[in-house]
Amino acid sequence: MTISNSFQFPKNFLWGGATAANQLEGAYKEGGKGLSTPDVLPGGKVRLKVLNDPGFDFKLNHEKYTYPNHDAIDFYHRYKEDIALFAEMGFKAYRMSIAWTRIFPTGEELTPNEEGLAFYDRVFDELLKHGIEPVVTISHYEMPLHLVKEYGGWRSRKLVTFFERYADALFNRYKNKVKYWMTFNEINSSLHMPILGLGFAIQEEEDHYQPTFQSYHHQFVASAMAVKKCHEIIPDAQIGCMIVYLPTYSVDCNPENVMYALQEERLFNYYCGDVQVRGEYPAFIKRYFQEHNIKLDIQEGDLELLKENPVDYIGLSYYMSRTEKKDKSPEEVGQGNILGGIKNAFLKTSDWGWEIDPLGLRISLNQLYDRYHKPLFVVENGLGAYDKVEENGSINDDYRIDYLREHIKAMGEAIKDGVNLMGYTSWGCIDLVSASTGEMSKRYGLIYVDKHDDGRGTLERKKKKSFYWYKNVIATNGDQL
Ligand code: BG6
Repeated sequence: MTISNSFQFPKNFLWGGATAANQLEGAYKEGGKGLSTPDVLPGGKVRLKVLNDPGFDFKLNHEKYTYPNHDAIDFYHRYKEDIALFAEMGFKAYRMSIAWTRIFPTGEELTPNEEGLAFYDRVFDELLKHGIEPVVTISHYEMPLHLVKEYGGWRSRKLVTFFERYADALFNRYKNKVKYWMTFNEINSSLHMPILGLGFAIQEEEDHYQPTFQSYHHQFVASAMAVKKCHEIIPDAQIGCMIVYLPTYSVDCNPENVMYALQEERLFNYYCGDVQVRGEYPAFIKRYFQEHNIKLDIQEGDLELLKENPVDYIGLSYYMSRTEKKDKSPEEVGQGNILGGIKNAFLKTSDWGWEIDPLGLRISLNQLYDRYHKPLFVVENGLGAYDKVEENGSINDDYRIDYLREHIKAMGEAIKDGVNLMGYTSWGCIDLVSASTGEMSKRYGLIYVDKHDDGRGTLERKKKKSFYWYKNVIATNGDQL
């Protein structure tokens, strides 16, 4: 048997970039849009505190905070120019999300807002005109603010009905334009930070687990309903789940640490996937529920719905791995490790302390494919870094090229390992507002946007060095890295 030295990405591999509505559109009050949860999240490092603050009131406070998502990079008015740049890079796919509040401003309306629907029609038409396949996340870290105030976010079963109506409106309207869908962005991340995905902060007097897992059940049901409807309304579409995946290493071969890492890995990486891909709650989570006294309100028909409507593919974001130890001291925890794992001595970190581990991506893809045997789609991966515009206007982001190259190589190796990989959309293909810190200076783009943390900037777009590099990667289908 001959194994080619080139990676041989599949012919129809979906190369492209990824963004989310609330992080790039701006125009937060235009076109009949209602307020959404990220509209009330402040910009700057204070955002991380707010995301973990049980007292967060979801109110705007202009005297105290700035709100970068309100204007973001103004994709709402500049989408044609931006899509032309994506097309120039040769994108085959563009992962984006729809702002729920453009379609249902409060979430409770019975009919969708035509102006919002028409906006995304224009965006999809523009993409399709350039031969770019839209890959749409239905809910990316946002929901109508009204649903948070009125119902407490996903704590309430009512959200299932509202989400179903929203998804139904999207499938019916865009059935001839969108063939790749995902339900909830990074659904598993709410185990750590429920504000973004579930729309509530855990109150101090409250047991963390009960509301979180009940809300998850509601999202699983909503997601399965969406899968069902998508298959009915758009039979030739594929709809996936989306999880943030961090392969979890034990710090050493002490079986106590290995078992601990395995438990953390199953809870974080596999709990949501098992329900959405296999269609049932796995045994390990049932034991966990028992031991933490979690009692889910599961209604008649829910479990059948989950079983009968698994997703077609698994979308994942990959930024870093995680290293675990059973009894760790606070000093051992890595500064930028979002899940609080310990520092990994073998890895370098980004400007924001995120550990860089390309091999971890190959490991992740193999683990996921071994477990589920379903097509995988890397829908987020990229480097958040400080960029410098030189006097001649160039942006020489070789560090980003190195990062992307190593991760793409890792995908190539995974494909050789036998993984069925559908595509790769690099995160923040155009600079946008960071989700966790609300900063513009944490730049991921292949396209630079002249917009700064203090709100200044002309919004002019410039091609970074990585723009030209990625263009060639796509043109050679990953052969020239
Ligand atoms: C993912 C999210 O977690 O990571 C994106 O889906 C986010 O919305 C991306 O922007 C990078 O994270 P951050 O916090 O650097 O923007």
